[in-house]
Formats: sequence, C-alpha cells, structure tokens
Amino acid sequence: MTQTLRQTMTDSSLPASPRWRSGLEQEYATLADTLAQLLPCLEVPLHLPWIDAIRQLKQQRGAVIMAHSYQSPEIFHGVADITGDSLALAQAAADCDSDLIVLCGVHFMAESAKILAPDKTVLIPDLEAGCSLASSITAADVRALRERHPGVPVVSYVNTSAEVKAESDACCTSANAVQMVEAMGVDKVIFLPDRYLGSWVATQTQVELVLWHGQCEVHEKFTAMEARHTRERFDAKIVAHPECAPEVLAEADFVGSTSAMGKWLEKEQPRRVAMITECSMADNLRNQFPNVEFIKPCNLCPHMKRITLPNIHACLRDLKHEVVVAHDVSVRARAALERMLAVGRRERI
Ligand code: 13P
Ligand code: SF4
Repeated sequence: MTQTLRQTMTDSSLPASPRWRSGLEQEYATLADTLAQLLPCLEVPLHLPWIDAIRQLKQQRGAVIMAHSYQSPEIFHGVADITGDSLALAQAAADCDSDLIVLCGVHFMAESAKILAPDKTVLIPDLEAGCSLASSITAADVRALRERHPGVPVVSYVNTSAEVKAESDACCTSANAVQMVEAMGVDKVIFLPDRYLGSWVATQTQVELVLWHGQCEVHEKFTAMEARHTRERFDAKIVAHPECAPEVLAEADFVGSTSAMGKWLEKEQPRRVAMITECSMADNLRNQFPNVEFIKPCNLCPHMKRITLPNIHACLRDLKHEVVVAHDVSVRARAALERMLAVGRRERI
C-alpha cells in the first residue's frame, strides 16, 4: 500500500458510516429512477446514503471501482466506474491509471487485477468471495496433468487461482476461449477447469481438448427442461452462458459469454428473452433494452453476492482486504494473462 494511501487512513474527515441527508433524493434522481426499474422500489432509498458515502470516499481516495456484470444493480449502476465481464475488467486493470482499485467481483478477478497492475493497491470488499471453478483445481493438479500429457500446452479459464495461472501457458475467458485454444497453434490443448465450457469450446474448434472436471455451481443448476419450458411457455428466445451443461446449450438460440450476450441482444432485439446465466446480469441489462421483456430463470452466485454497499464502504474507508499475490507466482501468472490480452489486441487491430 502506498504512503499516500496510508496517510489518508488517519484522515478524520472520512465518514464512519453513511447518514441520510436532505437533498439526497433530488441529487440522485436519475440514478434512483434507474434503480427503481431494476430493484424493489422500497430498497432504493436505503441504498442512496451508502452510494453517496461511497462516491465521496472514492473521490477522497482517488480510487477506481470496477464491478463485474453479476454485481447487484445498486453496485453496478450506483458506484462502479468500470463495469464488464472478466475480460473487460482484466483489460481495465492493465490500463488503469489510479493507484487504488476496488474490485467488486470474486477473488480470482481481484487477483487478475493485482497481477496485471502489480504496483497498485487492489482491494476486494470480501476476501471470501470465491468461485467453485477456481476452487476445483490446484497448481499441483496442473503439474500432474502436464506429466500425464507431456508437451501439451495448458489454457486456463481466468476462473482459477493465481497459482494455477502461474502453471499455465495462457489464460482465457468465456469471451475468447475458442480463440485462445486456437492461438496455441497445436492440435491438442489441456483446457481447465470448466468441463462444460471446455466441451462447448470443443464443438467450435478442431483442436482436441483434455478437460478437467470443474463446474460452476450457479450455471450447473439450469436444466434443459427449464430452458425448453421457458421457450414454449413464454415464447422467449433462450440465451445461455457456456458454463451451462451441454443439454441446456442445445436448447439455446444463442450461446455466448457475458459480453457476447449483451451484443446479441443489441443486434437481435428479441421481443422476449431468457438469459440462462447469473440473475443480476439480466437486471443490469434491462434498462438498456426497454423493448425487450426479460423472463428470469433466476440463479444467484453466492460468491458475487458477498459484495455489498456496506462492505465496499468499509473496505474503502479502512483500506482493508488488500489482495496479495506472491512475486514469483505473479510474474508467471502475468505471462499467461498477458498472452491472452495480446491475442485480444491482435484481434482488435
Ligand atoms: P465472464 O468471463 O463472462 O465475465 O464470466 C465470469 C464468470 O464467473 C461466469 O460465471
Ligand atoms: Fe464462479 Fe460460477 Fe460464481 Fe462465476 S457464477 S463466479 S463461475 S461460481
């Protein structure tokens, strides 16, 4: 943590906890309207003092708040400076010019930010915000896989620990998994840890994939019957994240990453849609598509939901829950993440 940041920790002008003040509703009228469309309207006045206090603290600290698309609307719309999928957040961390990043997402995302911006202070409002995919595999597992498949490169989904990234040749997100597998330039790749994302990638490429048995505890809950029923009952288009099981993806009109889903909606503007993914994703998109009716098959990520306005406020106020990655791990994990970002940059040229 930098000296300047440490000094501001003793600044007595920083608010201990948010207070309601008159004029708050008028000051945040536009935001309050947006939130009232996305949340039970009784909740909105409860959020405004926290949002106001976090915005003040953020300014005093010179912090940037980044929020994943699965964060609740009061965070996504209320306090985040940068929002997006895990790829967008990784890129933003790499390009960020603030010394302090507060990552509202799960731990592997905050670790990626720290690895890509090693000189910055990265805080996460709750250090326990994990991920079932990230905890499904260890660095020792990756080394054992390499021994079993000598010479076969490893592409790791970013939903992994820094130690697993450090054992990998390259990282990917769901937005660029096919591209990254093909960028290895070989006919066989170890792809980990999500077996469902991996089996979907395998349908999109000629490259043979060796898979691991990780699963997302949120996306694995969706069933094909639920998707079929939603389509038939509501005459809705089905859009699914590739972390869902293959039989669910087989029911989908479109399969794509968090960012690809948003782009698909923009292009297709369906009358009704069901987003087969984490629930807040549809909430956060709804106000961009007033002519699209969102049917909500709802599964929440319990890890993403550990992040709340009060714990964002506390982490910014006390500068706590700093993400730390051991130097040697960070250097090797960074190479795998950089390889992913470099492929993305080539695509954008
Ligand atoms: P994205 O890579 O699409 O942001 O997804 C991350 C994630 O955790 C999905 O469950
Ligand atoms: Fe991990 Fe699934 Fe939660 Fe994404 S939704 S953070 S993959 S547990």
